[in-house]
Amino acid sequence: MTTVATMIPHSRPAIGQADLQAAAEVLGSGQIAQGPRVEQFERDMATFVGVQGGVAVSSGTAALELALRALRIGMGDEVIMPSYVCAAPWLATQRVGAQARLVDIDVNTFNIDPLAARLAVTKKTRAIIVPHLFGLPADLTALERLGIPLIEDCAQTLGVTEQGRRVGTVGRLTVCSFYATKALCTGEGGMVLSNEASLLERITSLREYDGAATLNPSSFNLKLTDLQAALGLSQLGRFSAFQERRAVLAAAYRDTLSSTTAVCPIVPPGRMHGYYRFVIRLSHAQTAPGGLANMISRLEQQGIHCRKPVFRPLHRYLDQPGFPHSDEADRTALSVPLYPDLTDDEVQQIQHSLVQVLS
Ligand SMILES: Cc1ncc(COP(=O)(O)O)c(C=O)c1O
Repeated sequence: MTTVATMIPHSRPAIGQADLQAAAEVLGSGQIAQGPRVEQFERDMATFVGVQGGVAVSSGTAALELALRALRIGMGDEVIMPSYVCAAPWLATQRVGAQARLVDIDVNTFNIDPLAARLAVTKKTRAIIVPHLFGLPADLTALERLGIPLIEDCAQTLGVTEQGRRVGTVGRLTVCSFYATKALCTGEGGMVLSNEASLLERITSLREYDGAATLNPSSFNLKLTDLQAALGLSQLGRFSAFQERRAVLAAAYRDTLSSTTAVCPIVPPGRMHGYYRFVIRLSHAQTAPGGLANMISRLEQQGIHCRKPVFRPLHRYLDQPGFPHSDEADRTALSVPLYPDLTDDEVQQIQHSLVQVLS
């Protein structure tokens, strides 16, 4: 039986010497709350994503909520989002008092199905939250044609393109998360990015209550700290190296899995994959009732911590029928550890175990 000490975790932040030094410098500077490093991080992220500006906030969930508030979405409005995603888009929509309209995904890409989104549009639809899951851009071209404001959710996907356009540059607003397991992490943290200065101003004024001319009951304290921003800046400086390593590991896994029945991540023409997660689909035989949990536990016995990539689709929490592709993803998708600081030995161990368990 493998002990926990030898387990390869499902994810691990890539914290290096430069990150430690960046954090130590802030701690020594006496300026640890929101300050110049947050401003620098906002500017550098905006340049990296390819938009005019960004407002750093305390989490991706806060970023989604402030994005909705910036568009003045609230009671009586509807927001479309896929069912197969974490709870954050639904939570943010609830918090502003709007109605979440869940739609199904394209099971091949795990992303929102543009046709399902089109069928869900009503007179009350004010926005579509478009998560780019696992490192693969959603079909922005088709979604854009619906003529509804898009909020791109780049929590899992940065630095890649769809039809030559960088993710984060197509929606009216884009949100990021810098949670500890994300490809660019600050522990907790988030950002809203946009080309529209008026939207960014509104978000800045909602983010903090201090210094406002009037008392605004919708103001919060949702700030990022300079300590977190210093880590973010340091990580941003190494992001392309992270991406290169992720691509190498993804190619190695594809090679290994070619001898099994697992379906590797599909990359439609015109899209790049950033491999934030390496999510495979197992065969129906392997995932008959209880099968996925059984696979996860067999891999765990080999010392590999794999996970369901989405804990539970939203429609299942809300008891809504009619999401066959989200259900299929929920039953068959397995996320295999893939992150930049996996050692070559660990990669080999993962490859060996995958062949043993999945063949
Ligand atoms: C697609 C997506 N959106 C939003 C969030 C929320 O981000 P945070 O955890 O920083 O609140 C996450 C985080 O898991 C996510 O994966």
